[in-house]
Amino acid sequence: MTEESAHGASRRPKSQFRCIACASTSSEIGNAFRCPACGDLLEIVYPPWDDPPQAAALIDLWLHRRASQFPLDQSGVWRFREILPQEIGEAEVVTLYEGNTPLYPLPRCAQSAGVEHLLAKHQGMNPTGSFKDTGMTVAASVAKQQSFRWVACASTGNTSASMAAYAARARMGSLVLVPEGKISWGKLSQALDYGAVTCELKTDFDGCMRVLNEVVERMPVYLLNSVNPYRIEGQKTAAFELMEQLNWHVPDHVIVPGGNLGNSSALGKAFFEMKQLGLISTLPKISVIQAEGANALVRTMREAGGKKLIAVHPETMASAIRIGNPASWKKAIRVLETTGGTVEQVSEVEIALAKAEIGADGIGCEPASAVTLAGLKKLVKQGFVKTSESVVLILTGHLLKDPEFTLKFHRGDLFAASEAQASGLGQVQRSPIVLEAKSDAVIRTLEEAEKGLRK
Ligand code: F0G
Repeated sequence: MTEESAHGASRRPKSQFRCIACASTSSEIGNAFRCPACGDLLEIVYPPWDDPPQAAALIDLWLHRRASQFPLDQSGVWRFREILPQEIGEAEVVTLYEGNTPLYPLPRCAQSAGVEHLLAKHQGMNPTGSFKDTGMTVAASVAKQQSFRWVACASTGNTSASMAAYAARARMGSLVLVPEGKISWGKLSQALDYGAVTCELKTDFDGCMRVLNEVVERMPVYLLNSVNPYRIEGQKTAAFELMEQLNWHVPDHVIVPGGNLGNSSALGKAFFEMKQLGLISTLPKISVIQAEGANALVRTMREAGGKKLIAVHPETMASAIRIGNPASWKKAIRVLETTGGTVEQVSEVEIALAKAEIGADGIGCEPASAVTLAGLKKLVKQGFVKTSESVVLILTGHLLKDPEFTLKFHRGDLFAASEAQASGLGQVQRSPIVLEAKSDAVIRTLEEAEKGLRK
């Protein structure tokens, strides 16, 4: 008896592609990942199982795999392969053993936000330091299976770092388009080290995306941005893993940063599918937080009732989400509407403060991830999140992705002194202290710090 049949899970039929606007379905997908009829985005749908497994059998199977030495089981994405496209051959899988990320309590942040139960699912603990790896393993495997020699993406830095790593593992070439001077050094250095052909274009992310679409039409390269629905399928697994970690008790709220809006779409799709499979019986409210200067979704909801996209000229120091024309806006709105979540925007100071507070809980994240805590604080003040409700923040990137932001913040170089004082940043800023190389000097500093601790 195989491991699968022993645990009651049968294989699913081959997946199909459905347009999110006109709902036409097809078993073929072009290389632009657009509906041939109306040009909108596609999503992957699964025909019903021939022999549907019991929810309890799936839960047991996935848990059982955590102790397995089989390479696919060691990936926190492929461990959930029953909910991934079945057409990907196991031999083609490109994995860095992604997923399996920790779920941390955030006690200090909970206090400052005014909630009792606050957890962080830290997707920055993936192999290349961001949530992108969970989607990349699936989409890069498809590229390999289809014998592409080149993969490509436009990026604010994390997608490119992740794509370059998976392409290197699969011995494919990778082409990266990033906005010149607008991505962090950490992310740029990853793409270089993993061997990508890295082009810094004199434009923003949205401009890079436009150029890439033209390149993909003219050259045989495989597009690995999140318009590629295989990316979304892999990113779904973070929600399955979260529910496993919560023993399948659904939290009241899940809060996620919004950029190109692939991740919020993926997490929402995961929860819809978990409900269909009988793994959960309710949905959490999924809310999306953006930076004030890159608030296309917030404006789209508030000014156009979610009916038409209001694109913006993006400007924020949270460079990962410096996006003005998000591709997956319709998918994200469906998630907001179906789960009863909301959108909120946060200022640059609010982002920096929240980031330092997450750091003070010993966790740390990059600026774009910290919008979740900054947004939560606002949602609590508005009464949308109640003190007694359980909240999970999705931290999307690692602290070390953008050390320049962190250093400038702690040195007091990010904001004007008056602004910093008015917003209480001084409480969390920790500038390095330059001293003579003498123990007396260090001890005096320690004693001063001790007085601060006692307050
Ligand atoms: N957080 C981080 C750290 C990101 O890198 C991104 C997106 C987001 C949040 C937003 O996620 O786009 O799915 O809504 N980064 C992309 C990139 C755009 O190119 O690395 P989203």
